[in-house]
Amino acid sequence: MSKISKAMPQAITVPGLRERKALGERVVMLTAYDSPSAKIAEDAGADVLLVGDSLGMVVQGHPDTLGVTLDQMVYHCAMVSRSAKRALVVADMPFMTYHTGWQDAVRNCGRCLQEGGVQGVKIEGGAKRADLIKALVDSEIPVMGHIGLTPQSLHTFGGFKVQGRTLEAAEALLRDAKAVEEAGAFSMVLECIPSEVAREITARSGILTIGIGAGPHCDGQVLVFHDVLGLYDGPLPRFVRPYGDFGKQMREALGNFKRDVMEGRFPTEEEAFHLSPDLARQFGAKDDDADSSAH
Ligand code: KIV
Repeated sequence: MSKISKAMPQAITVPGLRERKALGERVVMLTAYDSPSAKIAEDAGADVLLVGDSLGMVVQGHPDTLGVTLDQMVYHCAMVSRSAKRALVVADMPFMTYHTGWQDAVRNCGRCLQEGGVQGVKIEGGAKRADLIKALVDSEIPVMGHIGLTPQSLHTFGGFKVQGRTLEAAEALLRDAKAVEEAGAFSMVLECIPSEVAREITARSGILTIGIGAGPHCDGQVLVFHDVLGLYDGPLPRFVRPYGDFGKQMREALGNFKRDVMEGRFPTEEEAFHLSPDLARQFGAKDDDADSSAH
C-alpha cells in the first residue's frame, strides 16, 4: 500500500452503510450546506452529510423548507461534495422536485448526483413514495427514505407536529417503513415520532433508521448543524441538544472587532504593510512610520 493510500480516509459508501445495520454500529449524520460546515462536520466524525432542505430555514431565513429550489440544492450539494473526503453526501430533494412524476424525479435527482456530486438523495414520504423510490433505485440513484414528520407536508399536517401518536397512526408508520425498505431505500430518517414506534420500526427494519426527535432506539441520529452549534436564532424543539453556543461567541468576537475599530486599536502598524525605510524617507513619511519592513 502506498503512503498516499494509507493516509486517505476510508470513504463511506452506500453498501458500507447497509453493512453497519448488520454490524449494529451506530451512524451519525449531520446537515451541511457549504464548505466550512462540511469540513467541520466531517472532521468531527459525521458518517453522512445531509444537504438538508432545512437550509431554507437556517441559511436562507425562511419560516419553513418549502421555498428551496432544485438549482439551490444542486449549488449547495456541489459545495459540500467538494469538501467531503470521507462522509457520504446526500441531497435532500426539495419540495416539488419529485412530486410530478417519476421521470421528472429521476432527472432532478440525477442532477444532484451529476452536478452536485452527491452519492444519494433523500425523499420524504412513506408508502405513497414506494413506486418512486423503486424507479430511482432502478436508475442507480441510492435513496434515503424519510417518514414521520416530513417537513414538506407542513400544511397537510397543520404545523410541525409529532406524528404516529395514535395506534392507527403508529401502525401506518410501520407500513410506511416496510414500504420504503421494500422499495429499495438504503436507510430512512424517522422524524418526530414516539420513541416506542421508532424502536419497533428499527427492530423490524433491515435498513438503518436515523432518528431526529424519535428517541434513542434508532440505528443512528441526525441533527441540524446550526442547531447543534447554537447558531440558529429560533426556538429549539425538545429533541435538539445544543452542544455549543457559537452564535454568542461569534457575536462577541465581531463586537470586539467593532470596538477595536471604533477605538482606533485595529489595525496596528504591525498588521499593516510598509514602504522600505529609504522609500519612506523619499516619500516624506515620518521616521517612526517606516521602521517595519514590508510583508
Ligand atoms: O432538512 C433537513 O435538515 C432534514 C433533517 C433534519 C432530517 O430533513
